[in-house]
Amino acid sequence: MTVPPVKGFSKLSKEDKIDWLASHYFSNPDEGISLLKKYWNHDAKLQQLHDEFIENTITNFYVPLGVAPNFLINGQNYTIPMAIEESSVVAAASKAAKFWMERGGFKTEVLGTEKIGQVHFIYQGHKKRLQKFFTAIKPKLFSAASHITKNMEKRGGGITGIELIDKTGELPGYFQLHSTFETLDAMGANFINSCLEQFAATFKEEAVGWDGFDDAEKDIEIVMSILSNYVPNCVVRASVSCPVKDLDEDRELTPGSFAEKFVRAVDIARVEPHRAVTHNKGIMNGIDAVVLATGNDFRAVEAGIHAYASKNGKYTSLTKAWIEEDTFHFSIEIPLALGTVGGLTSLHPLVRLSLEILDNPSAKDLMQIAAVAGLAQNFAAIRSLITTGIQKGHMKMHLMNILNQLEATEEEKNYMASYFKNKTVTHSDVIKVYEAHKRKQP
Ligand code: MEV
Repeated sequence: MTVPPVKGFSKLSKEDKIDWLASHYFSNPDEGISLLKKYWNHDAKLQQLHDEFIENTITNFYVPLGVAPNFLINGQNYTIPMAIEESSVVAAASKAAKFWMERGGFKTEVLGTEKIGQVHFIYQGHKKRLQKFFTAIKPKLFSAASHITKNMEKRGGGITGIELIDKTGELPGYFQLHSTFETLDAMGANFINSCLEQFAATFKEEAVGWDGFDDAEKDIEIVMSILSNYVPNCVVRASVSCPVKDLDEDRELTPGSFAEKFVRAVDIARVEPHRAVTHNKGIMNGIDAVVLATGNDFRAVEAGIHAYASKNGKYTSLTKAWIEEDTFHFSIEIPLALGTVGGLTSLHPLVRLSLEILDNPSAKDLMQIAAVAGLAQNFAAIRSLITTGIQKGHMKMHLMNILNQLEATEEEKNYMASYFKNKTVTHSDVIKVYEAHKRKQP
């Protein structure tokens, strides 16, 4: 089916957009339209808020918001909100939280909060002249941005540095104004990008009037001004440790064998990129869920964290595990540029509530909480992988999804849950047992 191009789509009303979609794409237009409308919020104001987050909104797309309680972090107890669709993630986080609460909890530390942005430009002249020009006008770059930085500076943040970087070895004529920022509790994307665009404008303007350049050198080409989501100096560490003998909850392995096998599993992810990607994906199950629930940009976080995982030239595990003098240690170190003010954090009512559940954390607090969620998730995954295997817990949680697909009644769900209580769930067994149970029904 070829659908003709549509003009002025964004200007149509929501209803007209839906009608257009239904007439061109839906096999059953009435059903499709009614499904989209079923997901509209009955509170018109709340719906309008969501409609206006993006362009061409047609409905809402639900993701469950769950909570994982009993996270002891630096001696304080947290309940962590998690927005995620994957069945086993919140259950695994809660289990790991409880396990470590009984063994001293999580310890965390913020190692840095520096954000980065760059003006990328092309200059084809003498390098020394450019360096001289940059040194002379650098104070002007700061002062020209003062209308943007004023409020941030009052709170103790602002621009912390601007450097001229020569990249001509990588691309002819390519230089950067590499800038660093402290954005406190804001993620800071708008602040940083506004500063950078101001730097670019001032830099170009000043070059035109600079006597030390010839005419060609005055013509600096600004290619783009944008923050970097790679923030290797905006880093948090979270860790747990306990005597090896206290790793005593798994019947399959003795505490000593558990600790050794656990360390081996993490070491495999440290040396083997295929495993490292899946290992880190499990970590991101926890981190993304917190990042999403607290209204932060999970794409930015994902991009930055995976770049960090390859910072030494080979993709590796974000966590480390080791045994030292009969103590088991497990830790994570990740970059996280998060905000707890501005953006979606003040707009989305559920984000505000999630932050309230976390006792209205600062950005630094939230970095620590998200890192803990990642470490807990990784602990839970490896613990399952080296003992029962991942499918037992995963499929137990997935059972409800299968039953919902089968349109099972409440009675059938209860029967199935108790039938599989102590059995491994497989898709084919669920179907078999479900059908047999249905046949027995009057
Ligand atoms: C599944 O979402 C995540 C895991 O594959 C992570 C891992 O293998 O460590 C279980």
